[in-house]
Amino acid sequence: MHNGPTTPLEEAVSKLAEGRRSPGERDAVPLLQRFADTFLRDVNLGVLLIDLQFRLVDISDTACKLLGWSREQVVNHRINELFGAMPKEHHPIQRSLLGGVVVTNYAFSWQNGTYRHELLLDSNVVRCEEGRILGAYVLFKDVTSLKSLEEQVQRNDRLAMVGQIAAGTAHEIRNPLTSIKGFLQMFKRTLTERGMNKEVEFADIMLTELNRINELVGEFLLLSKPKDLNIEQLRIEQVMEEIVPIIRNEAVMHNVDVRVVHTVPLPPVVADREMLKQVFLNIAKNGIEAMVDGGHLSIYLKIDESCKCVLVDIHDSGPGIPGFLVDKIFDPFFTTKPNGTGLGLSVCQRIISDMGGGIRVASKGYGTTFTIAIPY
Ligand SMILES: Nc1ncnc2c1ncn2[C@@H]1O[C@H](COP(=O)(O)OP(=O)(O)OP(=O)(O)O)[C@@H](O)[C@H]1O
Ligand SMILES: [Mg+2]
Repeated sequence: MHNGPTTPLEEAVSKLAEGRRSPGERDAVPLLQRFADTFLRDVNLGVLLIDLQFRLVDISDTACKLLGWSREQVVNHRINELFGAMPKEHHPIQRSLLGGVVVTNYAFSWQNGTYRHELLLDSNVVRCEEGRILGAYVLFKDVTSLKSLEEQVQRNDRLAMVGQIAAGTAHEIRNPLTSIKGFLQMFKRTLTERGMNKEVEFADIMLTELNRINELVGEFLLLSKPKDLNIEQLRIEQVMEEIVPIIRNEAVMHNVDVRVVHTVPLPPVVADREMLKQVFLNIAKNGIEAMVDGGHLSIYLKIDESCKCVLVDIHDSGPGIPGFLVDKIFDPFFTTKPNGTGLGLSVCQRIISDMGGGIRVASKGYGTTFTIAIPY
Protein backbone atom coordinates (compact mmCIF):
# COMPACT_ATOMS: atom_id res chain seq x y z
CA MET A 1 0.00 0.00 0.00
CA HIS A 2 2.98 2.25 0.57
CA ASN A 3 4.24 1.63 -2.98
CA GLY A 4 1.01 1.32 -4.97
CA PRO A 5 -1.03 -1.86 -5.46
CA THR A 6 1.03 -5.03 -5.93
CA THR A 7 -0.93 -7.95 -4.52
CA PRO A 8 -4.31 -9.31 -5.65
CA LEU A 9 -5.97 -8.09 -2.47
CA GLU A 10 -4.62 -4.61 -2.83
CA GLU A 11 -5.53 -4.52 -6.51
CA ALA A 12 -9.06 -5.69 -5.75
CA VAL A 13 -9.53 -3.11 -3.02
CA SER A 14 -8.18 -0.41 -5.26
CA LYS A 15 -10.36 -1.47 -8.27
CA LEU A 16 -13.40 -1.61 -6.08
CA ALA A 17 -12.74 1.86 -4.84
CA GLU A 18 -12.30 3.02 -8.41
CA GLY A 19 -15.28 1.22 -9.99
CA ARG A 20 -17.78 2.24 -7.40
CA ARG A 21 -17.19 5.91 -7.81
CA SER A 22 -18.37 8.62 -10.21
CA PRO A 23 -15.66 10.57 -12.10
CA GLY A 24 -15.83 13.27 -9.44
CA GLU A 25 -15.48 10.74 -6.72
CA ARG A 26 -12.55 9.13 -8.51
CA ASP A 27 -10.51 12.21 -7.73
CA ALA A 28 -11.03 11.17 -4.17
CA VAL A 29 -9.15 7.90 -4.73
CA PRO A 30 -5.73 9.43 -4.33
CA LEU A 31 -7.09 10.87 -1.11
CA LEU A 32 -8.25 7.42 -0.04
CA GLN A 33 -4.88 5.95 -1.00
CA ARG A 34 -3.11 8.77 0.81
CA PHE A 35 -5.32 8.19 3.83
CA ALA A 36 -4.48 4.46 3.86
CA ASP A 37 -0.76 5.28 3.73
CA THR A 38 -1.03 7.92 6.42
CA PHE A 39 -3.18 5.65 8.52
CA LEU A 40 -0.68 2.82 8.43
CA ARG A 41 2.15 5.16 9.24
CA ASP A 42 0.60 7.27 11.98
CA VAL A 43 -2.17 5.32 13.64
CA ASN A 44 -1.45 4.25 17.18
CA LEU A 45 -2.70 0.74 16.42
CA GLY A 46 -1.08 -2.42 15.19
CA VAL A 47 -2.60 -3.07 11.76
CA LEU A 48 -1.88 -6.09 9.54
CA LEU A 49 -3.40 -6.74 6.15
CA ILE A 50 -3.41 -10.39 5.05
CA ASP A 51 -4.23 -11.94 1.66
CA LEU A 52 -5.87 -15.25 0.79
CA GLN A 53 -2.50 -17.03 0.66
CA PHE A 54 -2.15 -16.05 4.33
CA ARG A 55 0.64 -13.64 3.42
CA LEU A 56 1.28 -10.27 4.96
CA VAL A 57 0.32 -7.54 2.48
CA ASP A 58 0.99 -4.53 4.68
CA ILE A 59 1.72 -3.60 8.25
CA SER A 60 1.43 -0.37 10.22
CA ASP A 61 4.46 1.32 11.77
CA THR A 62 3.04 0.78 15.27
CA ALA A 63 2.71 -2.95 14.60
CA CYS A 64 6.37 -3.06 13.50
CA LYS A 65 7.41 -1.20 16.64
CA LEU A 66 5.37 -3.37 19.02
CA LEU A 67 6.31 -6.68 17.42
CA GLY A 68 9.95 -5.67 16.86
CA TRP A 69 9.72 -6.33 13.09
CA SER A 70 10.97 -4.24 10.20
CA ARG A 71 8.47 -3.71 7.40
CA GLU A 72 10.84 -4.74 4.62
CA GLN A 73 11.63 -8.02 6.34
CA VAL A 74 8.05 -9.15 6.84
CA VAL A 75 5.89 -7.84 3.98
CA ASN A 76 5.05 -10.59 1.46
CA HIS A 77 6.04 -13.29 3.92
CA ARG A 78 3.67 -16.00 5.05
CA ILE A 79 2.20 -15.27 8.46
CA ASN A 80 3.30 -18.64 9.79
CA GLU A 81 6.94 -17.90 8.91
CA LEU A 82 6.82 -14.67 10.89
CA PHE A 83 6.27 -16.44 14.19
CA GLY A 84 9.39 -18.54 13.76
CA ALA A 85 9.71 -21.51 16.05
CA MET A 86 6.57 -20.74 18.07
CA PRO A 87 4.15 -23.73 17.88
CA LYS A 88 1.39 -22.99 15.36
CA GLU A 89 -1.43 -23.31 17.88
CA HIS A 90 0.09 -20.43 19.86
CA HIS A 91 0.30 -18.02 16.93
CA PRO A 92 -1.81 -14.97 17.75
CA ILE A 93 -3.01 -14.92 14.13
CA GLN A 94 -4.62 -18.13 12.92
CA ARG A 95 -5.38 -19.20 9.36
CA SER A 96 -9.02 -19.85 10.33
CA LEU A 97 -9.31 -16.09 10.12
CA LEU A 98 -9.57 -16.39 6.33
CA GLY A 99 -12.52 -18.74 6.75
CA GLY A 100 -14.51 -15.89 8.27
CA VAL A 101 -13.76 -16.46 11.95
CA VAL A 102 -14.13 -13.08 13.65
CA VAL A 103 -11.90 -12.39 16.64
CA THR A 104 -12.53 -9.67 19.20
CA ASN A 105 -10.49 -8.71 22.25
CA TYR A 106 -8.11 -11.64 22.04
CA ALA A 107 -5.38 -11.02 24.64
CA PHE A 108 -1.81 -12.16 24.09
CA SER A 109 1.64 -11.32 25.43
CA TRP A 110 4.49 -10.48 23.11
CA GLN A 111 8.11 -10.41 24.21
CA ASN A 112 10.03 -7.77 22.28
CA GLY A 113 13.62 -7.84 23.54
CA THR A 114 13.47 -7.27 27.27
CA TYR A 115 10.04 -5.65 27.11
CA ARG A 116 6.82 -7.63 27.36
CA HIS A 117 3.81 -6.13 25.66
CA GLU A 118 0.27 -7.08 26.60
CA LEU A 119 -1.75 -6.82 23.40
CA LEU A 120 -5.45 -6.95 22.63
CA LEU A 121 -6.35 -8.11 19.14
CA ASP A 122 -9.36 -7.86 16.81
CA SER A 123 -9.57 -9.33 13.35
CA ASN A 124 -12.06 -9.76 10.55
CA VAL A 125 -12.22 -10.52 6.82
CA VAL A 126 -12.35 -8.07 3.94
CA ARG A 127 -15.05 -9.01 1.37
CA CYS A 128 -15.80 -7.81 -2.14
CA GLU A 129 -19.26 -6.55 -3.03
CA GLU A 130 -20.42 -10.07 -3.97
CA GLY A 131 -19.42 -11.21 -0.54
CA ARG A 132 -16.32 -13.19 -1.53
CA ILE A 133 -13.50 -13.05 0.98
CA LEU A 134 -10.48 -11.15 -0.39
CA GLY A 135 -8.32 -11.25 2.68
CA ALA A 136 -8.34 -10.16 6.29
CA TYR A 137 -7.20 -7.43 8.58
CA VAL A 138 -5.88 -7.62 12.11
CA LEU A 139 -5.90 -4.71 14.57
CA PHE A 140 -4.20 -4.76 17.93
CA LYS A 141 -3.55 -2.34 20.74
CA ASP A 142 -0.91 -2.18 23.45
CA VAL A 143 -2.67 -2.47 26.81
CA THR A 144 0.43 -3.12 28.95
CA SER A 145 -0.15 -0.13 31.22
CA LEU A 146 -3.84 -1.03 31.68
CA LYS A 147 -2.85 -4.58 32.49
CA SER A 148 -0.37 -3.50 35.15
CA LEU A 149 -2.99 -1.17 36.59
CA GLU A 150 -5.36 -4.12 36.80
CA GLU A 151 -2.68 -6.20 38.54
CA GLN A 152 -2.05 -3.35 40.97
CA VAL A 153 -5.76 -3.24 41.82
CA GLN A 154 -5.83 -7.00 42.34
CA ARG A 155 -2.76 -6.78 44.56
CA ASN A 156 -4.38 -4.03 46.62
CA ASP A 157 -7.48 -6.19 46.95
CA ARG A 158 -5.37 -9.07 48.22
CA LEU A 159 -3.56 -6.75 50.62
CA ALA A 160 -6.86 -5.45 51.91
CA MET A 161 -8.06 -9.01 52.46
CA VAL A 162 -4.91 -9.98 54.34
CA GLY A 163 -5.36 -6.79 56.31
CA GLN A 164 -8.85 -7.72 57.39
CA ILE A 165 -7.81 -11.20 58.44
CA ALA A 166 -4.79 -9.81 60.22
CA ALA A 167 -6.75 -7.14 62.03
CA GLY A 168 -9.24 -9.75 63.20
CA THR A 169 -6.70 -12.20 64.54
CA ALA A 170 -3.46 -10.44 65.38
CA HIS A 171 -4.66 -8.87 68.63
CA GLU A 172 -6.34 -12.10 69.67
CA ILE A 173 -3.05 -13.92 69.19
CA ARG A 174 -0.96 -11.30 70.89
CA ASN A 175 -2.90 -11.15 74.17
CA PRO A 176 -2.55 -14.81 75.16
CA LEU A 177 1.05 -14.69 73.95
CA THR A 178 1.80 -11.95 76.44
CA SER A 179 0.50 -13.97 79.36
CA ILE A 180 2.27 -17.15 78.19
CA LYS A 181 5.48 -15.17 77.97
CA GLY A 182 5.00 -13.67 81.45
CA PHE A 183 4.44 -17.06 83.11
CA LEU A 184 7.30 -18.60 81.20
CA GLN A 185 9.67 -15.93 82.47
CA MET A 186 8.47 -16.71 86.01
CA PHE A 187 9.11 -20.43 85.44
CA LYS A 188 12.54 -19.63 84.11
CA ARG A 189 13.40 -17.70 87.26
CA THR A 190 12.31 -20.54 89.47
CA LEU A 191 14.17 -23.09 87.33
CA THR A 192 17.30 -20.96 87.50
CA GLU A 193 17.03 -20.72 91.29
CA ARG A 194 16.75 -24.51 91.49
CA GLY A 195 19.77 -24.96 89.23
CA MET A 196 17.78 -26.86 86.59
CA ASN A 197 20.05 -25.82 83.72
CA LYS A 198 18.62 -28.09 81.06
CA GLU A 199 15.09 -26.77 81.73
CA VAL A 200 16.35 -23.18 81.73
CA GLU A 201 17.75 -23.82 78.29
CA PHE A 202 14.39 -25.16 77.09
CA ALA A 203 12.61 -22.16 78.55
CA ASP A 204 15.01 -19.91 76.62
CA ILE A 205 14.20 -21.70 73.38
CA MET A 206 10.48 -21.31 74.10
CA LEU A 207 10.96 -17.61 74.76
CA THR A 208 12.86 -17.14 71.49
CA GLU A 209 10.12 -18.92 69.57
CA LEU A 210 7.48 -16.81 71.31
CA ASN A 211 9.36 -13.70 70.24
CA ARG A 212 9.30 -14.94 66.68
CA ILE A 213 5.54 -15.34 66.79
CA ASN A 214 5.30 -11.89 68.31
CA GLU A 215 7.33 -10.36 65.50
CA LEU A 216 5.24 -12.08 62.89
CA VAL A 217 2.05 -10.83 64.49
CA GLY A 218 3.64 -7.38 64.59
CA GLU A 219 4.14 -7.53 60.83
CA PHE A 220 0.53 -8.63 60.42
CA LEU A 221 -0.61 -5.62 62.38
CA LEU A 222 1.52 -3.36 60.22
CA LEU A 223 -0.17 -4.73 57.12
CA SER A 224 -3.61 -4.53 58.59
CA LYS A 225 -3.89 -0.82 59.20
CA PRO A 226 -2.07 2.31 58.23
CA LYS A 227 0.18 2.52 61.22
CA ASP A 228 0.29 5.76 63.18
CA LEU A 229 3.45 7.17 61.75
CA ASN A 230 5.89 8.95 63.97
CA ILE A 231 6.72 11.67 61.51
CA GLU A 232 9.73 13.92 61.89
CA GLN A 233 12.12 15.83 59.70
CA LEU A 234 15.19 13.70 59.17
CA ARG A 235 18.17 13.08 56.97
CA ILE A 236 18.25 9.81 55.08
CA GLU A 237 22.06 9.64 55.19
CA GLN A 238 21.84 9.74 59.00
CA VAL A 239 19.22 6.97 59.14
CA MET A 240 21.43 4.94 56.82
CA GLU A 241 24.48 5.51 59.02
CA GLU A 242 22.57 4.14 62.00
CA ILE A 243 21.67 0.88 60.30
CA VAL A 244 24.70 0.19 58.13
CA PRO A 245 26.47 -1.57 61.03
CA ILE A 246 23.51 -3.96 61.33
CA ILE A 247 23.54 -4.57 57.57
CA ARG A 248 27.34 -5.12 57.63
CA ASN A 249 26.95 -7.59 60.46
CA GLU A 250 24.44 -9.62 58.45
CA ALA A 251 26.57 -9.27 55.30
CA VAL A 252 29.75 -10.61 56.89
CA MET A 253 28.01 -13.89 57.64
CA HIS A 254 27.13 -14.22 53.95
CA ASN A 255 30.55 -13.15 52.65
CA VAL A 256 29.08 -9.97 51.18
CA ASP A 257 30.73 -6.56 51.17
CA VAL A 258 28.66 -3.44 51.66
CA ARG A 259 29.27 0.08 50.42
CA VAL A 260 27.22 3.23 50.73
CA VAL A 261 27.67 5.94 48.12
CA HIS A 262 26.28 9.44 48.27
CA THR A 263 27.84 12.19 46.26
CA VAL A 264 25.41 15.08 46.57
CA PRO A 265 24.02 16.61 49.77
CA LEU A 266 20.44 15.41 50.25
CA PRO A 267 17.51 17.53 51.32
CA PRO A 268 15.81 16.50 54.58
CA VAL A 269 12.66 14.38 54.29
CA VAL A 270 9.63 14.11 56.51
CA ALA A 271 9.26 10.47 57.49
CA ASP A 272 9.14 7.90 60.26
CA ARG A 273 12.69 7.03 61.27
CA GLU A 274 12.04 3.54 62.67
CA MET A 275 9.81 2.56 59.76
CA LEU A 276 12.42 3.72 57.26
CA LYS A 277 15.02 1.63 59.02
CA GLN A 278 12.77 -1.38 58.78
CA VAL A 279 12.35 -0.86 55.04
CA PHE A 280 16.07 -0.43 54.33
CA LEU A 281 16.93 -3.41 56.51
CA ASN A 282 14.32 -5.67 54.91
CA ILE A 283 15.43 -4.86 51.38
CA ALA A 284 19.14 -5.05 52.18
CA LYS A 285 18.54 -8.37 53.92
CA ASN A 286 16.75 -9.73 50.84
CA GLY A 287 19.72 -8.68 48.72
CA ILE A 288 22.19 -10.35 51.06
CA GLU A 289 20.10 -13.51 51.26
CA ALA A 290 19.94 -13.65 47.44
CA MET A 291 23.75 -13.77 47.16
CA VAL A 292 24.41 -17.33 48.22
CA ASP A 293 28.08 -17.30 47.17
CA GLY A 294 28.85 -13.84 48.46
CA GLY A 295 28.92 -10.63 46.42
CA HIS A 296 28.45 -6.88 46.68
CA LEU A 297 25.64 -4.86 48.17
CA SER A 298 25.75 -1.21 47.09
CA ILE A 299 23.52 1.49 48.48
CA TYR A 300 23.29 4.74 46.52
CA LEU A 301 21.61 7.85 47.88
CA LYS A 302 20.44 10.25 45.18
CA ILE A 303 17.97 13.00 44.39
CA ASP A 304 15.30 12.90 41.72
CA GLU A 305 14.35 16.50 41.18
CA SER A 306 11.59 15.67 38.71
CA CYS A 307 9.52 13.87 41.37
CA LYS A 308 10.99 15.78 44.30
CA CYS A 309 12.17 12.60 45.95
CA VAL A 310 15.25 11.27 47.65
CA LEU A 311 16.07 7.95 46.03
CA VAL A 312 17.70 5.06 47.83
CA ASP A 313 18.99 2.41 45.42
CA ILE A 314 19.83 -0.90 47.05
CA HIS A 315 21.69 -3.00 44.53
CA ASP A 316 22.90 -6.56 44.92
CA SER A 317 25.03 -8.68 42.62
CA GLY A 318 22.80 -11.71 43.18
CA PRO A 319 21.12 -13.91 40.57
CA GLY A 320 18.30 -11.43 39.87
CA ILE A 321 14.56 -12.02 39.86
CA PRO A 322 13.10 -13.96 36.90
CA GLY A 323 10.65 -11.91 34.83
CA PHE A 324 7.69 -14.12 35.67
CA LEU A 325 8.21 -13.56 39.42
CA VAL A 326 8.78 -9.80 39.40
CA ASP A 327 5.05 -9.09 39.51
CA LYS A 328 4.58 -11.36 42.53
CA ILE A 329 7.33 -10.41 44.96
CA PHE A 330 5.29 -7.65 46.63
CA ASP A 331 2.37 -10.01 47.26
CA PRO A 332 1.86 -10.90 50.91
CA PHE A 333 3.07 -14.47 51.62
CA PHE A 334 4.94 -14.77 48.34
CA THR A 335 8.31 -16.29 49.16
CA THR A 336 10.84 -18.57 47.52
CA LYS A 337 12.68 -19.19 50.79
CA PRO A 338 12.10 -22.28 52.92
CA ASN A 339 11.85 -20.18 56.09
CA GLY A 340 10.55 -16.93 54.59
CA THR A 341 7.18 -15.47 55.50
CA GLY A 342 6.88 -13.47 52.28
CA LEU A 343 5.73 -10.47 54.28
CA GLY A 344 8.97 -8.45 54.07
CA LEU A 345 8.33 -6.61 50.81
CA SER A 346 4.59 -6.17 51.28
CA VAL A 347 5.26 -4.51 54.64
CA CYS A 348 7.93 -2.28 53.02
CA GLN A 349 5.54 -1.26 50.29
CA ARG A 350 2.85 -0.45 52.80
CA ILE A 351 5.19 1.71 54.87
CA ILE A 352 6.60 3.64 51.92
CA SER A 353 3.23 4.25 50.31
CA ASP A 354 1.93 5.54 53.67
CA MET A 355 4.78 8.07 53.48
CA GLY A 356 3.69 9.10 49.98
CA GLY A 357 6.64 7.41 48.29
CA GLY A 358 7.09 4.31 46.18
CA ILE A 359 9.29 1.26 45.64
CA ARG A 360 10.26 -0.17 42.29
CA VAL A 361 12.49 -3.01 41.29
CA ALA A 362 14.74 -3.57 38.30
CA SER A 363 16.27 -6.93 37.63
CA LYS A 364 17.71 -8.08 34.35
CA GLY A 365 18.83 -11.64 34.86
CA TYR A 366 21.85 -10.63 36.90
CA GLY A 367 21.72 -8.42 39.96
CA THR A 368 18.72 -6.62 41.39
CA THR A 369 18.14 -2.99 42.26
CA PHE A 370 15.34 -1.86 44.55
CA THR A 371 14.70 1.87 44.37
CA ILE A 372 12.89 3.48 47.28
CA ALA A 373 11.60 6.99 46.58
CA ILE A 374 10.79 9.23 49.55
CA PRO A 375 9.33 12.67 48.85
CA TYR A 376 11.18 15.69 50.25
N1 LIG B 1 17.26 -8.91 46.04
C1 LIG B 1 16.56 -9.97 45.65
N2 LIG B 1 17.08 -10.87 44.76
C2 LIG B 1 16.37 -11.95 44.38
N3 LIG B 1 15.12 -12.25 44.81
C3 LIG B 1 14.56 -11.39 45.68
C4 LIG B 1 15.22 -10.21 46.14
N4 LIG B 1 14.39 -9.57 46.99
C5 LIG B 1 13.26 -10.29 47.06
N5 LIG B 1 13.35 -11.40 46.29
C6 LIG B 1 12.29 -12.42 46.10
O1 LIG B 1 11.08 -11.90 46.61
C7 LIG B 1 10.52 -12.81 47.55
C8 LIG B 1 9.69 -12.05 48.56
O2 LIG B 1 10.51 -11.25 49.39
P1 LIG B 1 9.97 -10.84 50.84
O3 LIG B 1 11.01 -10.01 51.49
O4 LIG B 1 8.61 -10.27 50.69
O5 LIG B 1 9.81 -12.22 51.58
P2 LIG B 1 10.97 -13.23 52.01
O6 LIG B 1 12.30 -12.53 52.02
O7 LIG B 1 10.84 -14.44 51.18
O8 LIG B 1 10.54 -13.58 53.49
P3 LIG B 1 10.85 -12.68 54.80
O9 LIG B 1 11.15 -11.30 54.32
O10 LIG B 1 9.60 -12.76 55.56
O11 LIG B 1 11.99 -13.34 55.43
C9 LIG B 1 11.71 -13.56 48.09
O12 LIG B 1 11.35 -14.83 48.60
C10 LIG B 1 12.60 -13.69 46.86
O13 LIG B 1 12.17 -14.74 46.05
MG1 LIG C 1 12.52 -10.62 52.94
